[in-house]
Amino acid sequence: MRENDAPPVTVPCAPGRLPPLGHLLPLLTDPLPFLQSLADHGPVVRIHLWRTPVHVLTDPELVHRLLVQDAAKTEKGFVFDKARGLLGNGLFISEGAFHLRQRRLVQPAFHRDSVRRYAASAARLAAAAVSRWGPERPAPIEPRMHRLARDIVVEALFATRLSDAQKARIDRAVPVVLTGFVQRALYPSPLLEKLPVPANRRFDTAVRDLRTTVDEIVARAAVRHQGPDETLLSLLLTARDEETGLAMAPAQVRDEAVSLLLAGTETTATTLAWLFHELARHQDLQDELSEEVRTVAADGAVSWEDLPRLERTGHAISETLRLHTPNWILMRRAMEPLQYGGVVLPPGAEVLFSPTALHRSPELYPDPSRFDPDRWRHPTGHARPGLFIPFGAGRHKCVGESFARAEMLVVAAAVLARLRLRPATATPLRENASAATVRPRGPLIIAEPR
Ligand code: HEM
Repeated sequence: MRENDAPPVTVPCAPGRLPPLGHLLPLLTDPLPFLQSLADHGPVVRIHLWRTPVHVLTDPELVHRLLVQDAAKTEKGFVFDKARGLLGNGLFISEGAFHLRQRRLVQPAFHRDSVRRYAASAARLAAAAVSRWGPERPAPIEPRMHRLARDIVVEALFATRLSDAQKARIDRAVPVVLTGFVQRALYPSPLLEKLPVPANRRFDTAVRDLRTTVDEIVARAAVRHQGPDETLLSLLLTARDEETGLAMAPAQVRDEAVSLLLAGTETTATTLAWLFHELARHQDLQDELSEEVRTVAADGAVSWEDLPRLERTGHAISETLRLHTPNWILMRRAMEPLQYGGVVLPPGAEVLFSPTALHRSPELYPDPSRFDPDRWRHPTGHARPGLFIPFGAGRHKCVGESFARAEMLVVAAAVLARLRLRPATATPLRENASAATVRPRGPLIIAEPR
């Protein structure tokens, strides 16, 4: 029988629904195991956020279809509706024809020659950062990675350096914004956002600070770059609409810059923090990678041309992206009926999937909780569509993927050539999935010179 002739199939509801919350409790308290457990109930499973049904895809092929073949039939979904009002309509948030137009404008800033330059500036910033990490006291790795990723993105894309006050504002604002916009999407009523409680005040201040800081960066760039050159900001500032010939409104330039800053710092910083936690726990692997790096560049200052030779370091990064995928949840909303395995999701249906859950499926990855870079020696096993999607797929696929991969290799090389990382205590490595990414909560790290 053809799929179209098949009798309608109802979408099974995940166990544990609790009125009026629906499945919010497991989603807030134990999200990753909960999302992983949904595959036991079928390829399409219904959960409820309050009373809103959300359809979770647990099969990689369906996820691929959603992101690629059905891309034109979807929009980004309810979390992004909320984010748009708060953070503007930048690339990470926009949809449809507007998104495609903006993507065409932004994309050249991520072409090979640009990424080669970004890699060089990342190498310089990483070397300077590593030279400041003394062995005298154990430190958390996460803030170090956030500061470094922030400086790399700002220098690469905005060709500028921040004042200490701007750095402090961005560092305070980004985590609050990234946690807050997901949480706000889960509020049962928009009225709760208006309550004068500390969490709302913190969030509003963070959004304001982020916008003000990016406005300052854009204003400075507008004065400096009068003609076309190669920075992302100058691309945006000199872009003209094909039909109207008009320049992009300053608020839209700001929104694009905010989008890139948010999308491009937290993700790489979190991945690098996980990588270094894993390497601190796996000393033999750390030695092997250090050896690889030093064979390529004794001081760890690798160039773009060196990157293909850092094969094992690249495997460790891929394995980190698999096991500790930053974007643990992604979503879309149907604009037209979507048909998956006999199930018809009507227009307006919210659809969700977890790249992390797919990357941890025991059927797809044997012994999935083991950190094992050897999986990537023969990567053809991971080539099935939808099986490995840390950067998404289709028209919204991460525009910064090659930049991110280059940046992570360059930073890993700078650290591995010069330092040995050790956990300061036996504190277990835990995950915190309360924000837009899964952050590590682990021991302080001792960084000794090699
Ligand atoms: C480890 C690093 C990174 C990971 C894992 C990652 C992951 C992702 C994912 C999964 C998406 C797709 C979201 C969706 O389909 O809804 C995405 C989109 C995006 N990423 Fe990344 N990203 C990373 C680094 C970066 C960097 C360095 C930048 C820029 C500086 C960046 C900018 C963006 C933008 C602008 C989008 C939206 C693209 C669009 O919709 O056209 N990302 N990223």
